[in-house]
Amino acid sequence: MSEEETGSQSEKPWGGRFSEPTERDVEAFTESISFDRRLWKEDIEGSRAHARMLRRIGLLSEEELGQILSGLDKVAEEFASGTFPVRIEWEDIHMHVEKRLVHHAGPAGLKIHTARSRNDQVSLDLRLFVRKEAAMMAVSVEGLLRETLKKAREYRDFILPGYTHVQQAQPISGGYYFGAYAERLLRDRARLLAAVASAGLSPLGSGALAGTTLPIDREGVAAELGFSGVTQNGLDAVGDRDFVADFLHALSLLMVHLSGWAEEWVLWSTREFGMIRLPDRLLTGSSMMPQKKNPDILELVRGKAGRVFSDYGALMTLLKGLPLSYNRDLQEDKERLFDALDTARACLSMMTHAVSGMRFEEERVAEILKGTELLATDIAEDLVRAGVPFREAHAIVGRIVADAAQKGRSLEELTDVDLKPFFDRFPPGYASTLSLRGSVERRSHVGGPAPETVMRRIDALWKELFGEGSKTASGQ
Ligand code: ARG
Repeated sequence: MSEEETGSQSEKPWGGRFSEPTERDVEAFTESISFDRRLWKEDIEGSRAHARMLRRIGLLSEEELGQILSGLDKVAEEFASGTFPVRIEWEDIHMHVEKRLVHHAGPAGLKIHTARSRNDQVSLDLRLFVRKEAAMMAVSVEGLLRETLKKAREYRDFILPGYTHVQQAQPISGGYYFGAYAERLLRDRARLLAAVASAGLSPLGSGALAGTTLPIDREGVAAELGFSGVTQNGLDAVGDRDFVADFLHALSLLMVHLSGWAEEWVLWSTREFGMIRLPDRLLTGSSMMPQKKNPDILELVRGKAGRVFSDYGALMTLLKGLPLSYNRDLQEDKERLFDALDTARACLSMMTHAVSGMRFEEERVAEILKGTELLATDIAEDLVRAGVPFREAHAIVGRIVADAAQKGRSLEELTDVDLKPFFDRFPPGYASTLSLRGSVERRSHVGGPAPETVMRRIDALWKELFGEGSKTASGQ
């Protein structure tokens, strides 16, 4: 019988200490290969660096190193081609790779686990994984930022109502609107990059928890794997999953932003609001109601946000009760990590489609803006300019608004004659100066909605992120 077919206690690296085979149910319960096989590249990459280090410190001969490296290449090929044999008695990715390495490399393979434990190994694999995936997510966020900034440019002068409490509040520009989401995404990107840094130290050499008596070169391994340094306490390092939590925190806040945006557009694309339209290629229909066009992708982004938060919550709950150092509970971190990542990535891609494909229904927005009270705050501020204390100005304009509402007129339609009874020092012709566009343009301080101000920020962001100069963002 070949070693793959025996399937017994002799398969276990700890077999020497045990007197009977593991219960099959126990194997099924404790295995993680069904999900941690996703870490195969990281596991092999770490093993390559570890083997080179063992060679440097004289624990492997040049020949043995060669056998191990080409053995690992063969293992990688098996994974890549889908021919890798999975056996639950080999538990996890680490033991699978080692078993197949021994199969391909022969006795040299038996030396790969020198000065190493699966405890520092799994921590290493996860750090490599988080580092790569968090960096890739940051790039995907940049993709959405690109579309968002393009829309900001496209709608820079477009006037729409700004809301608080989903009630019309003050007029804003389209550039300001998209610029708001750009700021959120920018912070999401920074948090993802921070998660990359959080995974930036190599734990290899921590061993099971307390290092090794062998003369290892931790810094060399760390440098080869592109880490900025090594962890400083093995007891901490093998049980540390802060970097996974940092990543899931970043993904959770990203989902908060995407989900809120999705909700806004679900609302804005209803017949009642009718402010935006998504192209048919992004919509889905009803199996029964022929007229329907539904924004399912937005609803699923909103729905899937909860899933990412629960992954994050599950991870934190997993970690909160663990004594030092490694505990098997930690095996439960991976599915939470993978699920949060896959979910957030898919949602990000859908929102990127939605942003690039959306259009404002310009006529409908103009209609919504007719007869609104969005300029009330501007009038109050003009009274302040005339020396009226703000609280009194607020009350005066409140009366103007109430009177106009009673007469069924909008603030924009009021004449000097209408205003006079409420305040006799409005300058002549004041009423005709009121306009939504003017209101937006006047709020030109840093952080305000005036198109010029907004575009300075949008162009600077574009330049910082995409480095192609402001012209690309600002278009023709
Ligand atoms: N599959 C394990 C995990 O994901 C790897 C580490 C196992 N270590 C151990 N001593 N059982 O956490």
